[in-house]
Amino acid sequence: MDIVKEKNIKVSIKTFGCQMNEYDTELASGLLMKQGYQMTSDETEADVAILNTCSVREHAETRVFGRLSRLCFEKSKFGRNVVVGVMGCMSENYKGELFERYPQLDFIVGTRNVKDVPRIVKQVISDKKRVMLLEEEGLGIEFSEFTQRKHAYHAWVPIMTGCDKVCTFCIVPKTRGAEISKPSKDVIEEVTRLRDRGYKSITLLGQNVNSYGKEFADGVGFPQLLERLAQIDGIEMVSFTTSHPSDAIPELFEVIRDNPAITRRFHLPLQSGSDPILKKMKRHHNMDQYLEKVEQLRSTVPGVDITTDIIVGFPGETEEDYQATKEALQKIEFDGAYIYKYSARPGTPAAENFEDDVALSDKKRRNSELLDIQDWISQKKNQNRIGSTHKVLVERKNSRGEGEVVGRTWIDKKIVFPGTEAVGDICEVKIQKLVNDTFFGVKV
Ligand code: SAH
Ligand code: F3S
Repeated sequence: MDIVKEKNIKVSIKTFGCQMNEYDTELASGLLMKQGYQMTSDETEADVAILNTCSVREHAETRVFGRLSRLCFEKSKFGRNVVVGVMGCMSENYKGELFERYPQLDFIVGTRNVKDVPRIVKQVISDKKRVMLLEEEGLGIEFSEFTQRKHAYHAWVPIMTGCDKVCTFCIVPKTRGAEISKPSKDVIEEVTRLRDRGYKSITLLGQNVNSYGKEFADGVGFPQLLERLAQIDGIEMVSFTTSHPSDAIPELFEVIRDNPAITRRFHLPLQSGSDPILKKMKRHHNMDQYLEKVEQLRSTVPGVDITTDIIVGFPGETEEDYQATKEALQKIEFDGAYIYKYSARPGTPAAENFEDDVALSDKKRRNSELLDIQDWISQKKNQNRIGSTHKVLVERKNSRGEGEVVGRTWIDKKIVFPGTEAVGDICEVKIQKLVNDTFFGVKV
């Protein structure tokens, strides 16, 4: 590649998957820009095209494979002068196999090496050789003042990475490794820095944030960390994801109750309503224990909004197991649910030990039936919110309505209302109507 100066080089990063990947893209972009690279959202004009990938379901990987094939084809058939790189979970899932499959692929960077992306890009350009960097060791969570955040008021803050649970369907322990937490001192410093730079809202990220800090002897677990961050003056809203039911403890619910800055939206993946399936998934909770957590959470934190993840068609899921999940959805009445069709992930215990024996037609039927049920429940709950008053963080001016602003409630609902408030201001807003998933209201 005849590129002499980094400052003339355009780089695109296309992000797939979860919020952790979004953060990693923001970090890599910031560090690349610090070295003089220009970021572009247009992959067709990029000199360096990076895919930040996800392995959690087959569909996510299929999309990446399609995009990689196209980029490699453009190089081999049309002589396009572009460096192609892969970061994120597929780097760890496939390692050097990606080089075998894609002879035009230039680099592979693992999930714990995001900070090394600029160095690798530079090395590939100057040496014209392929590079793979996967480090099994190392913390892998980096903070940087250069992180290119999408919003001026909101920041993702990873606090731990990896997962020590072994849910049998899940590839994450393989791709993100064992659990490691960022020391609380570093997290508190980072959030304080963000506050000083005007950020009002933060979302703490981790595969299982509830088990944060278990390797430290300083007594700062997730509830303690959350409380300290929520009490930083100027940080108005603190959200977090994701929680595992067996690690979500009453102490955490009490911290939420006692700290108004913490959101009232709690994502608590259930996965299945059937005990035998939960056992095969190695979820470490049964339905009774899950219901008890929901009950504890709802009675400790009035008005809390609980969302969940469900998988249909896990190996061996009978019609009876599926009915149990359906009943759980109807009984618990989540405020929202992500419902997925099981996809076998090679290398996971479920893929190794159980046959993917639920017919695709059954998976599809169960999936769409649950989506309909959940949609009805979510709509009903949203309708019931009309007339209620909510604390709202202003996120932006409404581009579609003159003199209006768009904000977010503490239960993560979008709301539009007349006003001239600045981004990051807080208002009390009464909901007047609901159009699709957006609330409209007035200040009180
Ligand atoms: N605790 C993690 C979970 C990551 S995966 C986190 O949110 O950070 C997110 C969701 O994808 C899981 O809760 C599960 O519902 C779904 N999922 C994971 N593996 C899957 C698979 N093999 N097939 C279908 N859905 C899956
Ligand atoms: Fe995956 Fe279960 Fe951990 S869903 S990320 S193994 S808690």
